[in-house]
Amino acid sequence: MAFDTLIVNGTVATASDTYEADIAITGGRIGAIAAKLPRQNCKNIIDATGKLVMPGGIDVHTHLDMPFGGSRSADDFETGTRAAAFGGTTTLIDFAIQYKGQTLRTAFDDWMEKARDRAIVDYSFHCIITDLPDAQLDEMPALIRDGVSSFKLFMAYPGVFMLDDASIFRAMRKASKHGGMICMHAENGGAIDVIVQQALAEGKTAPKYHALTRPTTAEAEATARAIALAEMAGSPVYIVHLSCNDALEKVREARDRGLPVYAETCPQYLYLSLEDMEAMPDFEGAKVVFTPPLREKWNQERLWHGLKHDHLQVVSTDHCPFCFKDQKQLGKDDFTKIPNGGPGIEHRYSLIYSGGVAAGRFNVNRFVELVATTPAKIFGLYPRKGTIAVGSDADIVVFDPNREHTISATNHHMRVDYSMFEGITVKGMPDVVLSRGRVLVKDDKFDGKPGSGEFIKRSTYNAV
Ligand code: URP
Ligand code: ZN
Ligand code: ZN
Repeated sequence: MAFDTLIVNGTVATASDTYEADIAITGGRIGAIAAKLPRQNCKNIIDATGKLVMPGGIDVHTHLDMPFGGSRSADDFETGTRAAAFGGTTTLIDFAIQYKGQTLRTAFDDWMEKARDRAIVDYSFHCIITDLPDAQLDEMPALIRDGVSSFKLFMAYPGVFMLDDASIFRAMRKASKHGGMICMHAENGGAIDVIVQQALAEGKTAPKYHALTRPTTAEAEATARAIALAEMAGSPVYIVHLSCNDALEKVREARDRGLPVYAETCPQYLYLSLEDMEAMPDFEGAKVVFTPPLREKWNQERLWHGLKHDHLQVVSTDHCPFCFKDQKQLGKDDFTKIPNGGPGIEHRYSLIYSGGVAAGRFNVNRFVELVATTPAKIFGLYPRKGTIAVGSDADIVVFDPNREHTISATNHHMRVDYSMFEGITVKGMPDVVLSRGRVLVKDDKFDGKPGSGEFIKRSTYNAV
C-alpha cells in the first residue's frame, strides 16, 4: 500500500470515540485507519505523538467581504480563510446576500465570484433572503438542488434585511418541501427600533447603548415566534448567534417537545459580557458592537451548560470584522452607525476546546460534535466533512492539548486591527492543519494557496 501522507502515533478523537491510531491519506481522502500502518513508501509522515487528531473545524456562520452599514467586512475570502486555517477551521459556510429586487441566483453568483480564486479552505453558502415575491420563492428549489440548501432570514434590521412573518412562513414552507433549512436571526426588530429612537432622542449615543437598546426579551420573543412559525410550516429551524438564557429557554422547550429546532452560539457570548463592554473606556466599546449584543455575565454559564446538554448544538463565529480605526469610527457620534460585527474566525477551535474541555465543562467528543460533526450534519456536509472516517475528506487538525497561547491583535492573522479576545490565554492549539490532505499550516507556518479551497455543494436537510 502506498499513501500520500501518514499521521502516526496520535490519539484520534471523533464525536463518538477516542482511540490511538495511525491515519493514511490518499487522493485527499482518508484511505485507512489502523492501530499501526506501514511507514515504508510514504514520504510525508506527521508524528502526532502526544497530540489529538481531530476533524477540521466547520464554521457555519461567517461574513467575508460583506458590505454592511456603509462599510465592508475587513477580511476577504483570502485573508479570512487563511486566518481560519491557522485556527483549525477547514470548511466555512458564508452568507450570500440577495438585495431587494435581485434574484437569489445573483446573490449566489456574486459570492462565488468573491470566493472562487481566493478561498484557501473549502466553503459553501447560505443565501440571505431580503425580498421574497413569488419569483424568488420559486427559485428556492433550484438553489437547494445546486447545493445552497439553507437560507438566512432576519426578524431584525427593519427596512434593510427584515422580512415580515408572512414571507418567513412562506419561505419555511418552501424550504421544508424541498429539503432546505431556514436559519433565523431572531430579534424583534420593530420593538428594538422604537427603543433605539428613544435612546437617540435622549442623547444616548455611546457604543454601550447598542447593547442596552436590544433587550434579551426581544431575542426571546423572536426565537419563540420563529419556532412557532416553523412548527406551523412543518419545517426545521436553526437559530443563529443565540446570545442569552431567555432565548435558550425557548429552544430548550421546543426541543423537549421533539421539534426539529437547532441553535448555535458564538465564542463572544461565552467569553465576553455586557459588564466587560460597560467597563471599556471612551469609544472602545465599539469593538464589541455586534448583534445580538453582549449580555449580562450570568448568561455565559447558562450557554456553556446548554452546549454540554445539547440544548445548543453548534458553535460558530459570526465572524464579521471591521477595523476599529477607520470603520468602527463611522459611529463615533451615533451607535447606530457603528458597523455591526466582530472578528472571530481564527480562535473558535481553541476557545471552545479551552473553555469546554480543558476547563472540564465537557469532554473532547462533545467538543468535536459542537465544532465539526453536528454543523456538518445539520448543513448537509456529513460524512464528507465533520468526521475522521475512511472515505471522508482528509480535513484534519493535529492538536496540542497542552500548548498555551495568548490571543492578541499582535499575533493573529485576521486583517483587522484589534482582537475581541485580547489577552485571553487558551489551553490547546492546532499544530498541523490539513485540508483534503494538503498541509495548510504547520508549526505556525502557512503553506496554503489562494484558490485551493473548493465550493462544496451541500445535500438537503436530514433530521439530526
Ligand atoms: O453583528 C453582526 N452579527 N453582524 C453580522 C450580521 C448578522 O446579523 O449576523
Ligand atoms: Zn444575524
Ligand atoms: Zn452573522
